[in-house]
Amino acid sequence: MYKATQVNKDTWWVGVNDKESDMFESLWPLPQGVAYNAYAIIGSTATAAIDTVKGPYHDEYYSKLLQALNGRTLNYLVINHMEPDHAGLIAQLKSKWPMLKFIGNAKTVPLLKGYHGIEHDVLTVKDGDTLDLGGHVLTFATVPMLHWPESMVTFDTTTGVLFSNDSFGGFGAHEGGLFDDQTVKARWEDEMLRYYACIVGKYSNIVQVALKKLSALKIQNIFPSHGVLFRKDINQVISLYDKWSKFEGEKGAVVVYGSMYGNTRRMAEAVCSGINAAGVNEISLYDASRTDPSYILRDIWKFKAFALLSCTYNTLLYPPMEAICSKLLNRMPKNKFLGIAGSYSWSKGALTALQDFAEKSKLTKIGPEVEVYTSPNAEDLQKCFELGKNLGEAIL
Ligand SMILES: Cc1cc2nc3c(=O)[nH]c(=O)nc-3n(C[C@H](O)[C@H](O)[C@H](O)COP(=O)(O)O)c2cc1C
Ligand SMILES: [Fe+2]
Ligand SMILES: [Fe+2]
Repeated sequence: MYKATQVNKDTWWVGVNDKESDMFESLWPLPQGVAYNAYAIIGSTATAAIDTVKGPYHDEYYSKLLQALNGRTLNYLVINHMEPDHAGLIAQLKSKWPMLKFIGNAKTVPLLKGYHGIEHDVLTVKDGDTLDLGGHVLTFATVPMLHWPESMVTFDTTTGVLFSNDSFGGFGAHEGGLFDDQTVKARWEDEMLRYYACIVGKYSNIVQVALKKLSALKIQNIFPSHGVLFRKDINQVISLYDKWSKFEGEKGAVVVYGSMYGNTRRMAEAVCSGINAAGVNEISLYDASRTDPSYILRDIWKFKAFALLSCTYNTLLYPPMEAICSKLLNRMPKNKFLGIAGSYSWSKGALTALQDFAEKSKLTKIGPEVEVYTSPNAEDLQKCFELGKNLGEAIL
């Protein structure tokens, strides 16, 4: 990955690894980095780049693009997505190749003007339009809101490569080979799901529409704009996307607590024991103050059930729990069982807020709701255990 890498006939990976950014979108931690995958197709009559990379990686991207071009001119830049992690170098490419033509769709046009002041040399494509590079005929399919309104995918009808944009992408930089057969699934699946839950999952209904649209294509390879490139087994990622976008949870649960002095934590532990007593062994227990919400969202997406427990803080939810609730409401996964509990020492507030969350979430609530004064007594903990047991039984 330190150089342009041929990934199919006349097709090159010219992307970069970002191991410097602490966070994606200044929001989601990147302990394993992230890759911005960009590509170049060298046809017999014309050449095309598929997306660029994030601005700071200009030099590295440009030198790889030149390697792939091997002395040829760049004729087209296909803009699958205008988000700056892929579109950072559009203006620079135009200054290097003044005759460069941009390929986008109708929704790309205002964004291209807004971000880069580019209004000319834009060829607007619709679904099914083609571009012949000589030996490679590209076709385009819009996938609005995966991940922005102008998002589209590009399909090379000659090689069967789908340049899938953010769809099928994941966090995590390349650590050796670029392809699925050069790494292990255990290394990429969790980071792909964390990316899905945080970035794409809100639009799961559209993922279903897109999967149907793409099923008409004879896809051989899926090359996303982040993470692993799939050539050996594309069905493994298609089936993951199908499962995640249908909210088909695995038999497991996530228990998240917000606690300052440990009382609400002990309630959460009792919920976990109850889930386990029902026969469920896959349980993630998270302290909302100490685990980044992206990991909590990931596991909530993965499993069939979750429980939220919070102490009261200045009459409201404990702030880290409030942050999780608001992130969940923004991209609400469906078909989950939900349990809630709160604690207080004078005015109450946490449980009421969780009840409000439960109502807005439209999820199936499992009882009992538990509200504890100061520190949970044996009866309170037994209720929490019951809540866990009921969640476990619902899961099974
Ligand atoms: C800064 C602060 C604000 C709090 N605000 C409230 C409140 O508005 N209403 C209330 O009933 N309890 C309030 N409490 C009490 C906590 O909810 C109490 O610590 C909790 O019941 C104990 O749970 P924990 O050990 O899980 O933190 C507050 C505590 C702190 C430290
Ligand atoms: Fe994006
Ligand atoms: Fe992206």
